[in-house]
Amino acid sequence: MKFDLTEEQIMVRDTARDFAVRELDPIAAKLDEEAEFPKEKVQMLAELGLMGVAIPEEYGGGDMDYVSYVLAMEEISRACAGTGVIMSVNNSLVCDPLVKFGTEEQKRVFLKPLASGEKLGCFGLTEPAAGSDVSAMKTNAVLDKDEWVLNGEKNFITNGPNAQTAIIFAYTDKEKRHRGISAFIVPMDTPGISAGPKEKKLGIRASHSSSIFMEDARIPKTNILGEQGQGFKIAMATLDAGRIGIAAQALGIGRAALEEAVAFAKERQAFGKSVASLQAIQFKLADMATRLEAARLLTFEAAYLKDTGQKFGRASAMAKVFASEAASFVATNALQIHGGYGYITEYGAERHFRDARITEIYEGTSEIQRVVIAADVLKNS
Ligand code: CAA
Repeated sequence: MKFDLTEEQIMVRDTARDFAVRELDPIAAKLDEEAEFPKEKVQMLAELGLMGVAIPEEYGGGDMDYVSYVLAMEEISRACAGTGVIMSVNNSLVCDPLVKFGTEEQKRVFLKPLASGEKLGCFGLTEPAAGSDVSAMKTNAVLDKDEWVLNGEKNFITNGPNAQTAIIFAYTDKEKRHRGISAFIVPMDTPGISAGPKEKKLGIRASHSSSIFMEDARIPKTNILGEQGQGFKIAMATLDAGRIGIAAQALGIGRAALEEAVAFAKERQAFGKSVASLQAIQFKLADMATRLEAARLLTFEAAYLKDTGQKFGRASAMAKVFASEAASFVATNALQIHGGYGYITEYGAERHFRDARITEIYEGTSEIQRVVIAADVLKNS
């Protein structure tokens, strides 16, 4: 088994790392405090090819593999987890399904500007009364001559207030339950489409989330993504890939928390020596580093399976649940190692603690990941 990265993967990782150190580290705390969307930095990410890392070059992407995407996500999220999710939604929840299910025309018109970062995308699946239970959605689309007419409301949509293009899921035939859901490519400047105000969030505050309202919004008939009734499967397949990106985001948050805990523990003196020399702290650091490394291996495995055309749904759910819970574990212990200093905003510990939490919730809660894993274990073991 080979664990070495290719030259290309190392180059992507180092590019993302340099960018994160130079451009994000100095402002991440301010972006968090002021809940500021880093528009200029997202533009710079686009110029580096990081808004469509694993998207073919002919469609405006960086033409790299998913392992490269994971490496880049970890580096960006290590510095600013909010910027990480802005990037991951565009990469894996918007560009990825356009590559897989889009027509040639859709790829030319919609994918190219998204993968090159000229435009930003969002993924409209969740609704006020339909989170884990996707089929409970109420949004519907009715065909009127050459146009689909959309009505409904989506909520908690990452990039909602900032996106120019949305992938929206809606019922085209409610009777058919999940088989009656379809996916649509929706320009956000369509009359009848509006984004609500940004939500006030616990963490990842540089990324903005909002509702999206659809009131008799008309889009061309040709903007359906995939086939009519295929929407549920498109959403699931998209999330299978997206969850690898969130696992990588969790790795970044966990790594930031661990690095800061190590630095603090070496510096902080108690009982006449550094707290790093106390076994109570060493055992915490050992567990933090071990869980993070295990999470990294699961995440790389899921990305590798995807890159090599193998089934990766179970591996992606395992990576997501393990990495997100590892990030929360590491961030909680990093805060504890900082003592009172962990609880104030002068250090990064409390930000990582807040940022880690969402990785256990979005793109499928930890409970949903366990549902997915258990279903596969029962079917295939
Ligand atoms: N790929 C393709 N097809 C799949 C699939 C997959 N991974 N998983 C299920 N399907 C298919 C099934 O084969 C089945 O097909 P048939 O119609 O042929 O029978 C169909 O989908 C229905 O499957 P289930 O009966 O398993 O569906 P379910 O209603 O029980 O739901 C679930 C399963 C795992 C709970 C799913 O609903 C789920 O993943 N929920 C979580 C939703 C989620 O992750 N939301 C995240 C929102 S996006 C977000 O968070 C973005 C952000 O802000 C960053």
